[in-house]
Amino acid sequence: MFENLNVSTDVVNQLSLVGAAAIIILTVFVVGKYIKQMKHDTSSGELTDENWDGIGEYKNPLPLGWAVSFFGTMVWAIWYWFAGYPLNAFSQIGQYNEEVSAYNTTFESKWANPDEDTLMGMGEGVYLVQCAPCHGIAGDGIEGKAAGFDKWGTAAGVLEVIEKGSKGLGYPMGEMPGGMASGDDAKAIAAYVAGGMAGEKPASFAACASCHGEDGKGLGGQSPDLTTYGTTAFVTDVLNRGKDGAIGMMPKFNDGRLTDIQKEAVGHYILSLGEK
Ligand code: HEC
Ligand code: HEC
Repeated sequence: MFENLNVSTDVVNQLSLVGAAAIIILTVFVVGKYIKQMKHDTSSGELTDENWDGIGEYKNPLPLGWAVSFFGTMVWAIWYWFAGYPLNAFSQIGQYNEEVSAYNTTFESKWANPDEDTLMGMGEGVYLVQCAPCHGIAGDGIEGKAAGFDKWGTAAGVLEVIEKGSKGLGYPMGEMPGGMASGDDAKAIAAYVAGGMAGEKPASFAACASCHGEDGKGLGGQSPDLTTYGTTAFVTDVLNRGKDGAIGMMPKFNDGRLTDIQKEAVGHYILSLGEK
C-alpha cells in the first residue's frame, strides 16, 4: 500500500510526516490542557460590551498556539506551493499529459501514411463513437437534428446553403444570407463549387465573389474557403470551429480528443456518405 512512499529518500515526505506527528502531539496536548481547565475553572475576566439575550463574551486574547499554527500553515502553504510538489515535481496530471502526448506521437507516426482502407476503417470507428449520437449511424442527421451527410459536402449541400444561408461557424464576416442566387444560376454555382471550382466559372458566381473572393478562397479567412468545400480540409475546419447554426449546436473538437489524422479519417468517412 505504501510502496511509493519513499520515506528514506524523499525530503518532502519526511517533512510531511514530521508535520503530521507535530500536529498530533500538539492536538493531544492542547485538548488535554483545555479538558483539565474546563473541569476546574470558573468564569472570570472582563466582559465585552455586546450581549446576546443575556449571553456575554469574555475579552480573551487570541490563544498563542492557535495564532502560531495559523501563521505556520500560511508559511507552509506558500512553501509547499512554490518549493514543494505542485509546481516543482511529480504530478499525476503532468504524468497523464505526458503519456497521452507520447501515445499520440506514436499513433500519428504509425498512421502517418494511411491507405484508403485504413482511413475508412479509422474514420468509421471515430464516427460511430464521436459523431453518430447526433448525426445518426447512417449519417442522415436523425430527422433533421444535425447535418445530414447524404447532402452536406455535395452539390445538393451547396444548393441548400445558397437557398437557406448559413451561420454559426464563427467567421469574421458572420452570417451568410440565403437567396443570393436561384434557379439555374444556383445549380450552376453549386456544381462548380462542389467540383472543387476546377471547371469553368459560371458568370453568376459573381453573387458569391463579394464575400468569398473571385477565387472562392474566403478573402484570407474572412469567410470559408469554398475551394475546399466537400473535402476533409473543410470538415477539419468545422471540427475545429464547431457550428452554432440554424439546425442546432455542433460542438468543437479542438481540445485534443481527436488527432489530426483522426479528423482527416472521419472527414474521409462522412464525405463517402454523400450522393455524388
Ligand atoms: C454576404 C457575404 C456572403 C455571400 C454573398 C455569400 N456567402 Fe457563402 N458564406 C459566407 C459566410 C460568412 C459563411 C460562413 C457562415 C457560417 O458561419 O456558417 C459562408 C458559408 C458558405 C458555405 C459553407 C456552408 C457550410 O455548410 O458550412 C458555402 C458552401 C457557401 N458559403 C457558398 C456560397 C455561395 C455558392 C455563394 C454565392 C451564391 C455565397 N456563399 C455567397 C458569406 C457569404
Ligand atoms: C452534439 C451533437 C453533435 C456531435 C457529437 C457532432 N455533431 Fe456535427 N453537427 C451537429 C449539428 C446540430 C450540426 C448542424 C449545425 C447547423 O448547421 O446548425 C452539425 C453539423 C456538422 C457538419 C456540417 C457543418 C457545416 O458547415 O454546415 C459537419 C461536417 C459535421 N457536423 C461533422 C461532424 C463530425 C465529423 C462529428 C464527429 C467527430 C460530429 N459532427 C459530431 C451536431 C453534432
